[in-house]
Amino acid sequence: MRKINLVILFSGNGSNMQNIIQSFHNKEFVQDSKKNVITNITSCVSNNPDAYGVFRCRELGIKCEILPHKDFKNREEFDKALLGLVQRYSPDLVILAGFMRILTPVFTSQIKCINIHPSLLPQHKGANAIKDTYDSDDEQGGVSVHWVNDVLDGGEIILQDSIPKISGESFESFEKRIHSLEYSLYPQAILQVLNLTSVIKNG
Ligand code: GRF
Repeated sequence: MRKINLVILFSGNGSNMQNIIQSFHNKEFVQDSKKNVITNITSCVSNNPDAYGVFRCRELGIKCEILPHKDFKNREEFDKALLGLVQRYSPDLVILAGFMRILTPVFTSQIKCINIHPSLLPQHKGANAIKDTYDSDDEQGGVSVHWVNDVLDGGEIILQDSIPKISGESFESFEKRIHSLEYSLYPQAILQVLNLTSVIKNG
């Protein structure tokens, strides 16, 4: 059966990465409504050796490559090394899950890559999107999955969903609801991008 290779890049906690591993590692789907395929996480890559996600990979038995960005003199040099590393795993899709680096065209022009961002883009780009949404007058928060290009949080949107803001809600509770939405939306977006549907097994 044909294999679909997925590589996940992360920098920190890795909860979205874990969710994607559990949803897609060694799982069977139907692609293009006709052929059965197996999805595999061929490797994860962290630019941060101390990321908690490195421990998650070990627990889940998934290979994790470490490529510290601090070892490179500029973004382009790091991206060149990242490209070489990722290409070794022949990915059909590269999935960013809390990967806190802006990628340059050295990488983005060669690799089919998606990202998740915890706001209703184009609102609240950047690293503090959940807090920025919480502090804003917006009536809704949300999550966006988008294609990655060299503009921060700027690529074409694949899927978006929203949650209402609740008056008097604590930041922690709002943040938790955003993360729950991420855990359902990102797998859905991956299915959509790869044109996969679930296998219904009879008997
Ligand atoms: C998520 O909120 C994701 O949307 C953003 O970074 C956060 C990563 O969290 N890009 P985790 O590492 O997946 O727990």
